[in-house]
Amino acid sequence: MSSLLHNAAEKLHIGTHKICFVDEVAGSDDSGTGSRTAPYQSASKVIEIHGDDVKIQIKRAGEVDFIEITASALKKAKKTADGNLKKARKAEEKRITDEGKTANAQVDELRRLEDAKRIVIVQDSSLPAAKKIKIRQSVANRDTRVKVSGWIHRLRSQKGLIFIVLRDGTGFLQCVLTGQLAKTYDALTFTLESSITIFGIVSALPQGKTAPDNHELTTDYFVLEGKAPGEQEAINSRISTDTSPSTLIDLRHLVIRGETASTVLKVRAATLRGFRKAFEQLGLLEVTPPCMVQTQVEGGSTLFEFNYYGEKAYLTQSSQLYLETCLPSLGDVFCIQESFRAEKSHTRRHLSEYTHVEAELGFLDFDELLTHIEELICQTIDNVLADSKTSELLRILNPTFEPPSRPFLRMKYAQAIDYLQKNDIRDPEGKPHEFGDDIAEAAERKMTDDIGRPIFLTHFPAELKAFYMKRSKVDNRVTESADLLMPGVGEVIGASMRISEPEELFRGYAREGIDPSPYYWFTDQRKYGTCEHGGYGLGLERFLAWMCDRYTIRDCCLYPRFTGRCTP
Ligand code: 4AD
Repeated sequence: MSSLLHNAAEKLHIGTHKICFVDEVAGSDDSGTGSRTAPYQSASKVIEIHGDDVKIQIKRAGEVDFIEITASALKKAKKTADGNLKKARKAEEKRITDEGKTANAQVDELRRLEDAKRIVIVQDSSLPAAKKIKIRQSVANRDTRVKVSGWIHRLRSQKGLIFIVLRDGTGFLQCVLTGQLAKTYDALTFTLESSITIFGIVSALPQGKTAPDNHELTTDYFVLEGKAPGEQEAINSRISTDTSPSTLIDLRHLVIRGETASTVLKVRAATLRGFRKAFEQLGLLEVTPPCMVQTQVEGGSTLFEFNYYGEKAYLTQSSQLYLETCLPSLGDVFCIQESFRAEKSHTRRHLSEYTHVEAELGFLDFDELLTHIEELICQTIDNVLADSKTSELLRILNPTFEPPSRPFLRMKYAQAIDYLQKNDIRDPEGKPHEFGDDIAEAAERKMTDDIGRPIFLTHFPAELKAFYMKRSKVDNRVTESADLLMPGVGEVIGASMRISEPEELFRGYAREGIDPSPYYWFTDQRKYGTCEHGGYGLGLERFLAWMCDRYTIRDCCLYPRFTGRCTP
């Protein structure tokens, strides 16, 4: 039949029957219409759509033209169509019933909430007055009526009971609401992060039940202080495991409410306490040098400059020079202060603002300086671990943490270059390292990770180091300097003996192109009774990243500042 005739026949109904075409290979049950040019794929679909009063022309795989469907194939197609239609009817009925149920449930819920609004709770005046406590005091206040305020950290309702894990920064407390309390509008619409004051009695939990500190507060009254949003704005909608790192930093003010971030911050506080105590144990005095300065310490390229009443000034890179001036006045000193670096490097161990633990000691030699640093580190770690709560938190973050054993490995810069060459650890351009190279972060970390324990890397060439570092009497090319390298992080401490002679210091200024005049007060230390002295600076966030096993030091401070990020 010519295609013209075909088209005419398609449009006509032959006899009383309409013709529908089925192509089992090229047809489509979704977009087909039954015409020769847009055939269906299955005969059953024809029957489902057009009923069985229709003539079917079918083309099977490998066939070139349509032929009339056989009686047996038609019977099979009718059976399939019947089954499909029944299934579709059932699904539709179920959908309608489900919709009805959902609508009914919504009506019931609205009615329940409306009823709940009428429930007003009052404090039972016959109960003893509640003692105001923080959660950390709850173990000591079991079995007395207490009042405790905090934020809803976790929430669960079960068989008419509501369980809240309350957080107040000092701990977590499970509180249970029963009876009318659990039926109030506030209770039925509790949201995570809402602030609340809860009254009741804390009692030990029976064996087999678990909750923080193994106890639970049975609530007799509560006041919802500030309701947090739900749905789209709920905290767990804004922060989840899929949230990008940059959004997490935008939302750092909410992230720090989380268990991991707050645990790191608690260990950080304990570590600061540990350092201060260790300094006291080692006989150093705390001072607080200025942060706004007019001298550089660690090279001009990382200086943050600002206008100070019309004069050029900088945010301090290090308090070292000021600490040196304290030696004749106060003896050995330390400070824990923010340092600022306009870092170009966008790495996981560089911040633009970091907490710098620095110390300066007089009348000692290089070996004594390194021994003192070992003592400080080990004593600080002992102090941190001596507090059982902190020790527990540290184990959560870093379950395999082991205090380092003494003495730390000491390795000269020249030996490190040998190590890098022998182990084929190359510089960022892929070249082997040579004496005089500034060992790049990646190579330094690879070496430290391979060795797997703290290393004092000592005696760096003078040209690689700051103007104030004392040269070695044995090898004039190198300085009495040391970096303390920790596995996973790399350099956490920069230390050195300082130039004690004015002439050598002037040569240092000249080598670095520094105008000595603003440094008159620093130079004066060498003029008014000089002494052999040395000191060091430790980056607290790097030290914490090592201790708490964090990938980036950005997680080890409250609100990280780095290239392009000065908020929140
Ligand atoms: O090696 P640095 O630059 O040494 C000094 O500033 C000395 N003046 C300190 C002193 O002797 N008083 O810095 C010391 C330590 C580094 O080892 C590192 O841990 C940390 O400060 N640090 C940084 N931490 C985070 N972000 C940065 N951009 C840092 N730069 C240095």
